[in-house]
Amino acid sequence: MADVTDHYENLLAGVYTWLYGGAEPRIAANRSFFMEHGIAPHLSGNAVDLGCGPGFQSIPLAEIGFHVTAVDFSETLLMELEGRRGALPIVTVRADLLDFTRHTPDTLELAVCMGDTLTHLPDFEAVERLLADVFKKLEAGGKLVLTFRNLMPEMPRTSRFIPVRSDDNKVFSCFLEYEGEYAIVHDILYTRGVGGWELKKSFYRKLRIAPERVMNLLERIGYSKASLREEGDFVTIIAGK
Ligand SMILES: C[S@@+](CC[C@H](N)C(=O)[O-])C[C@H]1O[C@@H](n2cnc3c(N)ncnc32)[C@H](O)[C@@H]1O
Repeated sequence: MADVTDHYENLLAGVYTWLYGGAEPRIAANRSFFMEHGIAPHLSGNAVDLGCGPGFQSIPLAEIGFHVTAVDFSETLLMELEGRRGALPIVTVRADLLDFTRHTPDTLELAVCMGDTLTHLPDFEAVERLLADVFKKLEAGGKLVLTFRNLMPEMPRTSRFIPVRSDDNKVFSCFLEYEGEYAIVHDILYTRGVGGWELKKSFYRKLRIAPERVMNLLERIGYSKASLREEGDFVTIIAGK
């Protein structure tokens, strides 16, 4: 079974920001998201970005005054974030996000795990452990923000072939299969080389997470005022302590 780390290093990390049409539109969208949800530092100002990638959340959080610990296991994406952060208060950490407690201050005002990172975890027990560990570190009045895709409904037949992005030199598409509690994501990248089009392909598993299961889990752990918003298959959950 393909490992998520290898999948990012061998295929996805090098084209990740290109897939989103560049960093600035994503950073701008997250600036608006945090503003819309009233997310700004009022307590310690310590924040952790779990699965930060190239910094689409870390950058706007640091701009509004959070001290961000940005955790990811992709060296390529962390280097990209390093190149983008300038003087912003962001510390990058190359580690498994499940070990974030070892790399963050004693207390946190904010934890974000956004842009579908949650589905990269190996199983629901890992989700339970992560959300319980975040709760322990959150200050009273602190917040957790999760955004991920609901992969529970199966896409039928040819709709599982998804054109993601293309330009004159690259074509990226993906194909989904379902295996019980996982969606197998096959990523297919064609790059124009001197001798013609070159193909890279790789796959990884994503966890199918039912939003209601996360809401029940948050309540069980002790989070308060959890809100759930679903737009298409995109899920946003914000919870407090
Ligand atoms: C879909 S990307 C999201 C990145 C960013 N938050 C965004 O919104 O674009 C998922 C990120 O999580 C990282 N990741 C996945 N599982 C991880 C783990 N267990 N520990 C650390 N990083 C992980 C990947 O390297 C990747 O950068």
